[in-house]
Amino acid sequence: MAWKVGAAVSAALTMGIAVSVAQAPAPQRAAWRAEYRAPESIPFPESNPYSRVKAELGRRLFFDPILSGDRTRSCASCHQPDLAWTDGLRRALGRTGGDMEFHTPSLLNLAWQEGRFGWDGKFRDLEAVAFGPISAPGNMNLSAEEAVRRLSADPGYAAAFAGAFPDPAVTRERIEAALATFERLIVSAPAPFDAWVAGDEGAISEAAKRGFDLFNGRANCAACHSGWSFSDGSFHDVGVGRGEDVGRGRFVPTSQALQYAFKTPGLRELRGRAHFMHDGSLDSLAAVIDLYDRGGIDRPSRSSEIRPLNLSAAEKADILAFLDTLNAGAASSVAVADIPAAAPKP
Ligand code: HEC
Ligand code: HEC
Repeated sequence: MAWKVGAAVSAALTMGIAVSVAQAPAPQRAAWRAEYRAPESIPFPESNPYSRVKAELGRRLFFDPILSGDRTRSCASCHQPDLAWTDGLRRALGRTGGDMEFHTPSLLNLAWQEGRFGWDGKFRDLEAVAFGPISAPGNMNLSAEEAVRRLSADPGYAAAFAGAFPDPAVTRERIEAALATFERLIVSAPAPFDAWVAGDEGAISEAAKRGFDLFNGRANCAACHSGWSFSDGSFHDVGVGRGEDVGRGRFVPTSQALQYAFKTPGLRELRGRAHFMHDGSLDSLAAVIDLYDRGGIDRPSRSSEIRPLNLSAAEKADILAFLDTLNAGAASSVAVADIPAAAPKP
């Protein structure tokens, strides 16, 4: 029975319930739904395999202001666990006040992200990020040499490094490895959407299901926000940046498609993540949907996947209802996963 939804639509009409014409046929929805199955374990690179002691060391470093010059900032000053690992600000706060260049991105589900890191891809891999903020004079303002010296001089850290690595030396590479191992454990908790993907039909509303159809269908969001973490890890101009704010284009000036291109963010736990976009220029999800509805700034670099959508108010509401199913909710909030099932025991 290929047109099951048709029957549901006429039943709903008989009952006087409004239905969106954008609803996808059941087989199509089922195929899309299968694309979002949650992974069973957290992937770790061969070059920096998981161990519990290394992750614990990384956790400690992440929350410790010892990594800032004047000992006032830690990674968690900006990547706050209860704000989906961002900071609630439009753009990050510089050390001496004033806005930094970018909005603080969430750190959820980075273990699944392949390719480069940072809004403009300035970081080669997750390990390479750490000393960006640590040694930036406008951010944590601590040189790698001083970081190594401080941690070596601290008996607690000296012991933790000795436990996590083959010998007790504290090095820049080991600080990076430990922080990245901890960061790969920052995984979003199962949300209503995941229960629906796993087969619980009642886990999300009919509005959210229509929003899911739009997300994958006419609104084309899944062209870039793909898979379980809702990011393709790639760079696109969706029509936001202006002027000198060229994103990936700064590093690849000859590529037209990479001018004003920024990395596709994942879409989990958006409820705690306002403001939005690399420059924090949009204050609400409704404003984000309006931007896509208009199609952003029309220019040669704009992605061919972006075009004006002419969504109705009901369709916009459906997409918002769908995005809301990606929140695990206040009770479970955002969890740092425990020891991943597939990880080798230390
Ligand atoms: C002042 C606030 C602030 C502090 C402190 C900070 N970050 Fe960030 N973080 C940001 C901003 C802003 C960006 C975006 C930078 C860019 O794209 O160039 C970012 C980007 C990142 C990314 C890339 C995420 C992605 O999706 O590509 C990672 C990983 C990260 N930070 C980890 C850390 C770690 C680890 C620390 C501590 C050593 C730290 N941050 C300290 C604000 C901060
Ligand atoms: C061509 C690829 C592409 C398509 C299609 C696309 N997005 Fe995006 N999305 C991105 C990129 C890239 C960004 C970051 C843009 C920036 O900061 O300038 C983004 C940002 C967002 C954000 C803000 C997240 C944050 O952390 O700031 C949301 C929410 C979002 N998109 C939802 C959607 C929805 C809903 C649709 C469909 C209506 C959609 N996107 C279509 C690539 C895409």
